[in-house]
Amino acid sequence: MDFSHAPVVQLSQVRLSYPSPEGEIEVLKGIDLSVAPGEITAVTGPSGSGKSSLIAVIGGLEPLSGGAAHVLGTDMSEIDERGRTLLRRQDIGIVFQAYHLVPSLTAQQNAALPLTLAGRTDAQNAGAEMLKRVGLGHRLTHRPSALSGGEQQRVAVARAFVAAPRLVLADEPTGNLDQRTGSVVIDTMFDLARSSGSALLLVTHDPGLAARCDRTLVIEDGRVVS
Ligand SMILES: Nc1ncnc2c1ncn2[C@@H]1O[C@H](COP(=O)(O)OP(=O)(O)O)[C@@H](O)[C@H]1O
Ligand SMILES: [Mg+2]
Repeated sequence: MDFSHAPVVQLSQVRLSYPSPEGEIEVLKGIDLSVAPGEITAVTGPSGSGKSSLIAVIGGLEPLSGGAAHVLGTDMSEIDERGRTLLRRQDIGIVFQAYHLVPSLTAQQNAALPLTLAGRTDAQNAGAEMLKRVGLGHRLTHRPSALSGGEQQRVAVARAFVAAPRLVLADEPTGNLDQRTGSVVIDTMFDLARSSGSALLLVTHDPGLAARCDRTLVIEDGRVVS
């Protein structure tokens, strides 16, 4: 059967609760979402509305508490934490606001990491190639502490795309960067997503950026409002 047109993300009434001393607190209250292959979706909404929680469920960082989630054809309710880790490692790239690079590794090693973990012998070459594509071919041996914020985020973008994943999640990737630096990072992400055909879910507060996406999902208080 040909699954190439199947949605990369399919959520139906997805719920997520966090435990608290006062009992469970529900932060996702029944989210429906379908993302097509290659589609670029902006996710916006007020602070605390559940955007990062949504990214965490789709990326397998948090188990859902209710509803159904299929990510890249996998039923997220049927896999455990180890299964979620493998899914994320193999087929999902994630970019966080705070870069999350490994401090002890060079830029090249950081960019190559998903392929290194997959045991690919061409990992370092591919890492170097990706760094060239994000404009950091001259920074291969630098460690994160020797890079600016914008450079670190470009390394994180290189890492997210190095394995040509079908899905990339980016949670306010320019939140720590100034406007100009941020727009370089975003242009790079759009370029890579379009050329690799990766679907992209991009959490942002920037209306101009959301307007460049194929569509916008607005979340308020754990629900999709438009
Ligand atoms: N690990 C956690 N434990 C408990 N509550 C959390 C946790 N992470 C987020 N929350 C709560 O869930 C709600 C949604 O948070 P979040 O998804 O980070 O929103 P957003 O990214 O839209 O700002 C907030 O009320 C937040 O305090
Ligand atoms: Mg957030």
